[in-house]
Amino acid sequence: MHDFNYIGSDLYCEKVPIKKIAEEVGTPVYIYSSNTLRNHYHAFDLAFADIPHIVCFAVKANSNLSILRLFASEGGGVDIVSGGELFRALRAGIDPQKIVFAGIGKTEEEVSFALKSNILMFNVESSLELQKINEVAGSLGLKARVALRVNPDIDPKTHPYIATGLKKSKFGIAISRALGEYQIASTLPNIEVVGVHKHIGSQITEVGPFVAAMEKILELVKGLKESGIEIKYIDAGGGLGIRYGEEKPPHPKELGKALVPMIKDLGCTLIFEPGRVLVGNAGILVTKVLYLKSGEVKNFVIVDAGMNDLIRPSLYDAHHEIIPVEKQDGSYLTADVVGPICESGDFLAKDRKIEKPEPGNLLAVMSAGAYGFTMSSNYNSRRRVAEVMVEGEKYTVIRKRESYEDLIRGEE
Ligand code: LLP
Repeated sequence: MHDFNYIGSDLYCEKVPIKKIAEEVGTPVYIYSSNTLRNHYHAFDLAFADIPHIVCFAVKANSNLSILRLFASEGGGVDIVSGGELFRALRAGIDPQKIVFAGIGKTEEEVSFALKSNILMFNVESSLELQKINEVAGSLGLKARVALRVNPDIDPKTHPYIATGLKKSKFGIAISRALGEYQIASTLPNIEVVGVHKHIGSQITEVGPFVAAMEKILELVKGLKESGIEIKYIDAGGGLGIRYGEEKPPHPKELGKALVPMIKDLGCTLIFEPGRVLVGNAGILVTKVLYLKSGEVKNFVIVDAGMNDLIRPSLYDAHHEIIPVEKQDGSYLTADVVGPICESGDFLAKDRKIEKPEPGNLLAVMSAGAYGFTMSSNYNSRRRVAEVMVEGEKYTVIRKRESYEDLIRGEE
């Protein structure tokens, strides 16, 4: 569910007409609904209400400070993967004891920053990383809390680029080797073993892979207990999918119903790292039609947003609904909706039947709140776009559109 709806023929975000924002802030522009964000957070939180848990929003999905602050005010923590994300999270007022740090390539500088910030735990992805964290913690006179990220070899049945828990994937420590790694970790002087972590992939639209992965994790936790290693946190990662088109992903409460009984007697705190499911459908990208063009075999709708603004269609062939901000007379056109970038891969949709727009009309690219702005770039020296948050009848620019000066900042 989200708060982007038509009133008459005009698309609104909560109580604000999208057209008004586009006129005042310009296009392209990302628009988020604070109400949807809060509702999504609550739905997820509530699904696990019966057990101790922390909802650690995956910052990579949407790192805007205002969005992080909104989740912090609801009691949320974050999952980070870089020093930059840690910096943002701290700026947004996230409680360091609700920050978990994943990623296979943490640098010494990042490890040190996180240790000094007293984050909850590192999700460690290799033996050498574990040694490095031990060494850095020792040099700072601190103890690092860690979970090992194990790779449970489960097929999440998603796009290969966003599947992370298969044997061939670069992520985590093979589950068959995990016990040995834990035994080593428990002997390191500056390491405190507190958890186990897994994340098997993203845009997962069934409960089955989550349950299968959890079964493997629980087997490991049992083995650890038998060797005297007590786990306090089970971090189940993120990955719950959303509806972009025809998908029918489970509601978080279905995930809760399946997982809570599996872990409720263990005395552990469950951590989840949802990204997309919290923000995906809470955001849209609004773009203006510049030109229409008929090629020999195709029609093109040329818009002012490109792959640098939303790369998901180009990178994953991802489907995003595209709807008019103002409904037209109902005639349709089948076209590629393309951006201004000098690449054939620059498209927002291919062979899409849409209401026939005119130059100057606005289009809303739906479900763009996750991995939209955060994956945007300055390619073709395009300025990154503005981001707007709507709250009832008000809206606020939560990130200014970049200027030309911003583009060359730091260059000689
Ligand atoms: N935790 C870890 C360790 C992750 O690597 C990820 C996502 C998440 C949590 C959050 O996953 P989510 O709940 O959002 O599925 N750019 C791609 C998605 C890449 C996901 C990477 N890891 C896309 O646009 O579909």
